[in-house]
Amino acid sequence: MTVEWRKTPDDHVIVVLGATGDLARKKLLPALFHLDMEDLMPKRYLVVATSKDEVTDDQFREFARDAVDEFCRCKSSEGHWDEFAARLSYVSGEFGPDDDGPLGDAIRKAEAEIGGDPPRRLFYLAVPPQAFGPITLGIGAAELAERARVIYEKPFGWDMESFIKLNNTVHEVLTEDQIYRIDHFLGKETVQNILAFRFANGMFEPIWNRDHIDHVQIDVPEDIGIGARGGFYEKTGAFRDMIVTHLFQVLSFIAMEPPSSFGEQPLLDEKSKVFESMVALEPDDVVFGQYEGYQREEGVAPDSRTETFAAARVWVDNWRWSGMPFFLRTGKRMAEKRWAVTLAFREPPKQMFEEVEVQGQSRNHLTMEMGPNEGISVSFLAKVPGPSIELGPARMDFRYASSFGSELIEAYERLIHDALIGDRTLFTRCDGIERVWELVEKLIHHSPAVHEYPQGSWGPQAANELIAPRQWHLPEPPTNE
Ligand code: BG6
Repeated sequence: MTVEWRKTPDDHVIVVLGATGDLARKKLLPALFHLDMEDLMPKRYLVVATSKDEVTDDQFREFARDAVDEFCRCKSSEGHWDEFAARLSYVSGEFGPDDDGPLGDAIRKAEAEIGGDPPRRLFYLAVPPQAFGPITLGIGAAELAERARVIYEKPFGWDMESFIKLNNTVHEVLTEDQIYRIDHFLGKETVQNILAFRFANGMFEPIWNRDHIDHVQIDVPEDIGIGARGGFYEKTGAFRDMIVTHLFQVLSFIAMEPPSSFGEQPLLDEKSKVFESMVALEPDDVVFGQYEGYQREEGVAPDSRTETFAAARVWVDNWRWSGMPFFLRTGKRMAEKRWAVTLAFREPPKQMFEEVEVQGQSRNHLTMEMGPNEGISVSFLAKVPGPSIELGPARMDFRYASSFGSELIEAYERLIHDALIGDRTLFTRCDGIERVWELVEKLIHHSPAVHEYPQGSWGPQAANELIAPRQWHLPEPPTNE
């Protein structure tokens, strides 16, 4: 890939909107500090943090320090915290569509302090999606769009109509190459490894198609609930929060044709072609669920029908995948936190071992575990030692930790750095997102029934029926670690 990981970004003012929120605390502030520690930040940069909360600079620095100590891989005491903290300033308020208020002044003041050639501006919108439009118009009204790049958290729109409206608003102020729609799964090392696995090896690509694969599973169960995100989750639900965003993006990496290069446009073109070939989802292609007790969570309506679980059957109707289903599953408060893509291969054309007893599942599976315990495993059948012919499940394993030993780069670090150097390869493009909303339009407006499921389970029974006669497959963690 054309990764310029060590490239030093131009001088910057980084503006974090929603700076006292959960995302800033858990991901963005730790990522900025770690990039600074790794010497990957611009030579000269300042961070202007903002939200509606009334906090002083010092209180914000304290908040940032706690965030780093709780969520960053390195603690504030291990690095030059004071230097980093001195770069942080805080201003209360947000851009409105008509005037910029104190935020514009704070940005210009920071630019003057940096000096030299006018620095670039990176805006990170860690705010609810309904604020994307007004804030972008505010950036325009304050005449700050020049030299700016803007990172938008997901989801970018709620459906086709709101996507088009938001996209038009944003394009009134910014050109497409200034727009960075983030999907942090694409920043995960293991997701990029799908491309390396497929296209750096001669062994797998010949069998990567409908002739050899029976179906693909993209499975992201989570054991956590919705925490304090009730307000956000009620409007979003698992289908928008995970399926049409993260899981569709991963699907595009699994299904895409080899790009002519790993440059931004060729890669994004191939992803878009996958979405073009996808068949619009019908209500009976999905199963929605809600965990027991969800309606009693903070910020949730007592009669809420929001889904906390979604499973989907998706078809990519092109030469490579026609007639072969992709099954997607995700949910909150499920039995385990896992993150796996499994290719389930067709059984051999002739059963030579018909009379033979088989222990366990007989299909061959190739599973890419994106976390925790990142790695790749292949399960197959082998002869059980002994005088009779009996077959048992066997497995080959690759684990990142034992093979490479090095720590994986955090997705947000990777993507913030990419935005700082102007690389949009791992961000999403408007044609791809528009098509995705088109694919789910019918479903969003005619949601299926929501089945209740017990906390700590694998979701509603209907999700097993969706994949039957196949089964959801999550290999046991390797025993030798
Ligand atoms: C976020 C979703 O985008 O991704 C969350 O909004 C989800 O609901 C999270 O829990 C999962 O990401 P990660 O990186 O923690 O696996």
